[in-house]
Amino acid sequence: MRKTVDTDNETKTVDSKETPGSEKKKSYCKLNTVTSERSPGLSTLKKVILLQCTVYISLPVILCLFPWILGHVVCSHWLRLPYLVDLASPAELSLNHTLNFYLSPEEGISLGVWHTVPDSQWQKAQGSGPEWYSETLGDDSPVIIYLHGNVGSRAIHHRVELVKILSAAGYHVLSLDYRGYGDSSGEPSEVGMTSDAIYLYQWVKTRSRTSEVCLWGHSLGTGVATNAAVKIQEQAKELARERARDLRDIKLADLEPSYAVDGVILEAPYTNMEEEVASHPLSMLYQYLPGFESILHHIMQRNNMVFANDENLKTLTTRVLFLHAEDDNVVPFYMGQKLYQIALQAHRQRDAEDQVDMVSYSESLGYSHNYIYLDPNLPSVVGRFLQRKNNSYYPDNIRRVGD
Ligand SMILES: *[C@@H]1O[C@H](CO)[C@@H](O)[C@H](O)[C@H]1NC(C)=O
Ligand SMILES: *[C@@H]1O[C@H](CO)[C@@H](O)[C@H](O)[C@H]1NC(C)=O
Repeated sequence: MRKTVDTDNETKTVDSKETPGSEKKKSYCKLNTVTSERSPGLSTLKKVILLQCTVYISLPVILCLFPWILGHVVCSHWLRLPYLVDLASPAELSLNHTLNFYLSPEEGISLGVWHTVPDSQWQKAQGSGPEWYSETLGDDSPVIIYLHGNVGSRAIHHRVELVKILSAAGYHVLSLDYRGYGDSSGEPSEVGMTSDAIYLYQWVKTRSRTSEVCLWGHSLGTGVATNAAVKIQEQAKELARERARDLRDIKLADLEPSYAVDGVILEAPYTNMEEEVASHPLSMLYQYLPGFESILHHIMQRNNMVFANDENLKTLTTRVLFLHAEDDNVVPFYMGQKLYQIALQAHRQRDAEDQVDMVSYSESLGYSHNYIYLDPNLPSVVGRFLQRKNNSYYPDNIRRVGD
């Protein structure tokens, strides 16, 4: 109590320098300064703490007033990294067997896409145009549609490295910049990004003949991948129902799989966007602020950003492979584990639990959020996953790499 009195004396001397109306905030922060009250830099310290208190309180207030700010932070498309790279010339990033082209999923929207063919065809690719690339897509090599995470374009280093590895493993890779990212026009949104992915998938399907087509999502892109896969599955079911009505002797189950996505690979997936934002270190600072959860919920709703991987995996019937590093510092590892359990449960109910795999990477490897491509066994992990077209039994669904 004695200390509080001292502080009051000190407060008076400081008060004269401050604007009226700041007393309330000051007394709110007063207790924090008690221990250092006699040090010479006290008034500066008080100001710093006052500033911190103000910032602490104003951040949620600002986000409530301008919810789109959080949407812009989540997408971070305005960070057009890497700078000084010409997206129209992938060869400059030693992708010499890659075609850059643009798709228009709707009027006024143009999407930048790279099509990288399997490495073994790099010589044929030299000087070849769009017709050759389009034709080659149907050569029976599996096709992977790569849906990247937030921040920057398809030219970011770890994305390019993964494309090279998948191409060397014999796959076609289509690397997309969603609307608002890279050299694509428009503004990102959950609905828009999902329809961009579906549009590219359908574009591929009209050219890929019998090849398998998989979606690979990383980080923010995992939400786009499961959203797209669920929508494609719903459309496939609807189409199958129509066909089955026309051809009475064909069973629904025989038709369905041929239209749905052949597999979904989720690298560093989050359960849903609200939980992901809440798990951010900045949000953790607010975990004891009363009502913070509902404030966050309100802001996310205003942004129309759900990206519910957890809900999507309850209905998705396609094969799923989870890749997650235990030391992931952006999307916590427990989220990947939780999603694996959800997918496993859903597949178990259909007697197809062998279609869900998870590979986790030990902390000692240091792969964290962006470097799973460094795993030398990644091509064989993906290869084994893709080969399991016919539900053959797979004894070790869950593996841990490292140590
Ligand atoms: C082109 O790319 C392939 C595959 O990455 C590589 O093996 C080859 O050496 C490259 N060729 C040239 C001329 O850069
Ligand atoms: C299907 O499973 C059998 C074993 O049951 C295997 O020999 C065959 O290669 C598999 N086919 C494909 C396309 O994976």
